[in-house]
Amino acid sequence: MINLVKRPRRIRNIKAVRELVKETHLNVNDLIYPLFVVNGYNVKEEISSMPGVYHFSLDILKGEIEEIKDLGIKSILLFGLPEHKDECGSSAYDDSNIVQKAIKVVKEIAPDMCVITDVCLCQYTSHGHCGLINENGKVLNDESVELLAKTALSHIKAGADMVAPSDMMDGRIKGIRELLDKEGYYDSPIMSYSAKFSSAFYGPFREAADSAPAFGDRKSYQMDYCNSSEAMREIELDIEEGADIIMVKPALAYLDILRRAKDKFNLPVAAYNVSGEYSMVKAAAKMGWIDEKQVVLEILTGIKRAGADIIITYFAKEVAEWIREGSV
Ligand code: PBG
Repeated sequence: MINLVKRPRRIRNIKAVRELVKETHLNVNDLIYPLFVVNGYNVKEEISSMPGVYHFSLDILKGEIEEIKDLGIKSILLFGLPEHKDECGSSAYDDSNIVQKAIKVVKEIAPDMCVITDVCLCQYTSHGHCGLINENGKVLNDESVELLAKTALSHIKAGADMVAPSDMMDGRIKGIRELLDKEGYYDSPIMSYSAKFSSAFYGPFREAADSAPAFGDRKSYQMDYCNSSEAMREIELDIEEGADIIMVKPALAYLDILRRAKDKFNLPVAAYNVSGEYSMVKAAAKMGWIDEKQVVLEILTGIKRAGADIIITYFAKEVAEWIREGSV
């Protein structure tokens, strides 16, 4: 007699079959590892709100880059903490400043590594905002774009492979693209923080980058997390202006935005698994409340499944290690 009862086939009893039908794979090639560089000598200082993440002086950075390279990680995202801050963030576009020097150090040790730089003024301004501020505390959009473009050019001239503007000023992709083209850097791509939401998940980063705004917040230039269609408009504009990779940030509370972006646009989509998302997992793991490895893999796989081609994550080294030992 034919059994007409419908039931799911038990094919997943066999591990090899599970592997065959697996739809989402984490790959070390998809990961970008963020690094914070500082002046000084022999500095490897842990960021207290982000265990496992450090400030590195350039001499120590060398060893770290070797380690990252050995793990098979091929892309990094550099953040600089300058010695000097002022009203107009002048250290950001000073050719001999910390990020520019770090790029050269990395390229010496690992010429094939993709060095991406975060382009923003907030670590460099005395007031901690991502752009210039007038006497009434208002952000001066167009004037800021000029300085951001100068910063991007300075990074590319120092040897960066790609720039990642994170400021969210209007028109900054166009400003950066035009200046890079004018100076002959047609081939240098831009990864745009296109849909960057004003988020409490950046809390630990602001300690890491010493970039908390001295007054007010970033709501006038970062996006309202209630809005999804607006994110699509922001991304569309960035693509028109010349973005090569689009980014959604943060990741976890924005998986729907990632999926919409992936379905709508034919460009690589990056997700930034930000500091707060990292620190929450670390804290819970430290308390013994979750299994860190399993949670990290589930989160990152979820981000990929939602549509991310690229994931920027402070977990990159751990994941690369797990992939290497074959446990992923
Ligand atoms: C700088 C910048 C921020 C992050 C990346 N670039 C902070 C912010 O906009 O407040 C956040 C990264 C993280 O939280 O891990 N504009």
